[in-house]
Amino acid sequence: MSTTFSIEPQTGLTGALLNVQAPESRPVIELDHIHKTYNMGDVEVHALRGVSLTINEGEFVAIMGASGSGKSTTMNILGCLDRPTKGTYILDGEDVSSLSKDERADIRLRKIGFVFQGFNLLSRTSALENIELPMLYMGIDANERHRRAMEALGAVGLAGREQNHPNQLSGGQQQRVAVARSLVNKPALILADEPTGNLDSRTSIEVMEIFQRLNRELGITLVLVTHETDIAEYAQRVIVFKDGKIKSDNQVERQRSAAEELKHLPVVDEDDEDE
Ligand SMILES: Nc1ncnc2c1ncn2[C@@H]1O[C@H](COP(=O)(O)OP(=O)(O)O)[C@@H](O)[C@H]1O
Ligand SMILES: [Mg+2]
Repeated sequence: MSTTFSIEPQTGLTGALLNVQAPESRPVIELDHIHKTYNMGDVEVHALRGVSLTINEGEFVAIMGASGSGKSTTMNILGCLDRPTKGTYILDGEDVSSLSKDERADIRLRKIGFVFQGFNLLSRTSALENIELPMLYMGIDANERHRRAMEALGAVGLAGREQNHPNQLSGGQQQRVAVARSLVNKPALILADEPTGNLDSRTSIEVMEIFQRLNRELGITLVLVTHETDIAEYAQRVIVFKDGKIKSDNQVERQRSAAEELKHLPVVDEDDEDE
């Protein structure tokens, strides 16, 4: 049975945007003995050396590990941007281990939302149009695109900013546009690679608050790479990579609440913020 989640009125997000199912501990990600080897001329780089991992629907997972430990390689495979050299990847029930480039592009569009450290917004394009873009590729009609994009913009607290171009928005606001964009195709999974890497600490907490809300209230499955321990503590589970393998995989004992922490931080008017 499906349950439509409702969300606090001030966010402007209704369950209709995503119409998500209640999480039932169904795996969204199943990695089985994944290897990735890069051939660099005569040298082979073993970026991943047998990674097995299950992430269920509704989980919020942080991936940590030293530079070179295999985090980005893992994210590229999870995001169907790259294929494993060996091993199986089942995404949302579908074996995507050996799909062609075009098939992977199609899966990405339908199943995965991406949030990047550098926001990756189109600079000459309004916030609204940036958010509409994935739906344009999906062939969703203009009215529906507009409706969903407005709803997503409200969900990230940016109602009224639809016509602003990225250079008219602060870093935190740009990242919120990127989060809205990642949502609109109703993905099975959102992947975020260092999403707070370019943000100051308060803005980072604001972005984490949005992720926590999407996760808790809409049941969205989230996987986030961070090198900051305090950011990882907003997730429910932390996986640490070392030398291309999983070194540890633990539930967070006391998950931080970004919403609670924001209540105790002084309010900043973001419109006055420097870029
Ligand atoms: N495209 C590539 N070509 C060759 N080697 C790569 C490539 N991408 C990553 N590597 C190597 O694979 C290993 C893991 O890298 P990466 O997944 O980027 O680690 P992290 O994101 O944890 O810093 C490193 O030794 C890195 O140099
Ligand atoms: Mg990396």
